Amino acid sequence: MDRLFEKAKKVLTNNWQGRYTIPAAGIYPFQWNWDSGFIAIGWAHFDITKAVKEIDSLFNAQWTNGFLPHIVFWDEASDKAYFPGSDFYRTHLSSHSINAHGTSGITQPPVHAFILEKLLAITNKDEQVVGLIKKLFNPLFQYHRYLYKERDPLREGLVYILHNWESGTDNSPAWDGIFSKMDQFVPNYDIQKLRKDTLHVNEKQRPKNREYDFYLYLVEVIKNSKYRTEPIFKKSPFLVQDPLFNALLIRSNESLIKLAELAGESGKIEQIEAWQEKAVQSLNDKLYDEKMGTYLYFDLKSNKKIDKITSSGFAPLLTSAPDAVKVKRLTATMNGKKFKGENGRYFLCPSFDTTAEAFESQRYWRGPVWLNMNWLLYQGLQRHGCPKLAEEIKKDSLQIVGEQGFYEYFEPEKEKSKWMDGKGYGGATFSWTAALVIDFLKSERGGE
Ligand code: GLC
Repeated sequence: MDRLFEKAKKVLTNNWQGRYTIPAAGIYPFQWNWDSGFIAIGWAHFDITKAVKEIDSLFNAQWTNGFLPHIVFWDEASDKAYFPGSDFYRTHLSSHSINAHGTSGITQPPVHAFILEKLLAITNKDEQVVGLIKKLFNPLFQYHRYLYKERDPLREGLVYILHNWESGTDNSPAWDGIFSKMDQFVPNYDIQKLRKDTLHVNEKQRPKNREYDFYLYLVEVIKNSKYRTEPIFKKSPFLVQDPLFNALLIRSNESLIKLAELAGESGKIEQIEAWQEKAVQSLNDKLYDEKMGTYLYFDLKSNKKIDKITSSGFAPLLTSAPDAVKVKRLTATMNGKKFKGENGRYFLCPSFDTTAEAFESQRYWRGPVWLNMNWLLYQGLQRHGCPKLAEEIKKDSLQIVGEQGFYEYFEPEKEKSKWMDGKGYGGATFSWTAALVIDFLKSERGGE
């Protein structure tokens, strides 16, 4: 344990940039939104000041309408090192962007209020964390308000993502149907010349070139709309209600309610509870699928659920939404043939249904195990009284990192992983992997 802990500390320390932590050297050289949340959990166990700074820095880049960008390109010069960088996003087109730092113009899953609640528990109410909560309560409230105001035009309590990168699960097979329709009209951007990721990571582990065309096209639609959601909602081919994004928003609402008094903001509780009630109801009514035994994505464009089972579909376990019957179905799916495989063939939890045709064990979000998802599912399983499965996820997570290293994502097939020569997939010294291993090793206190 001590060796793994020391190694994890080293990963975070090496990736620290003075006011934030890069996800991984080379491939991700800036600050990423939800990464910062997970990373702060790791720091909180041995350097609270850095945990606080990490989150505080991210909120420095918040736009005036509450929007929180998914990348902050602190160092403009290193923009050359990454594509698409701030030049591509041209966020000055929005009247709400702030000029101080280049940012992207899309967001990522809203983990931060949940993370603040965790930081408070891990640090035993450290005064720096209390100060951060007081400072950020209102910005967090504004962010959630932005999401409900701008991303829920049907006023049903579920927010949509307008880009696959907003899901945090970039190339999930969930988008395949939408992208295959876009194939007819999306141009070829000659992406091979632009992308930088494949300079750092084997292309077999990354999204394909043609998929990158779709990603860029969607940013173009957003820019053409000057980052205003009304025209985006009319024009964009990609409008998806994502169970992970919505579950984290609901879980974070719950944290805001819990933290309101400490922050001296009890007056906001009523509004958050109103969001919450509708959100929980709609999550169950609209995204839960009894037959598939999971929560699904909803495609607002075709007005249909997307029938792909991903690990994001289990994320509502983080919330009060699933009742005992749903919990039983969800855990049976996770613990069954599709995810665990016959005779426990796979480490928990593959990011995608291993029995589906689109499953690819090494390509990013199309199959590999990710530590942030495992950590979230662990919290959710604990919450709903499934300690056995929760412990299994934790055990698998520590084994996989112990054997494969502090990688970005991991081979799920146990037999295959034996031949990987101590290597996982993607970025090699990945910050949230290190941070969440630290939490798994150190903390039972932060659990629910
Ligand atoms: C990838 C992941 C995303 C993460 C980012 C930086 O794009 O899919 O979830 O935030 O890398 O680590």
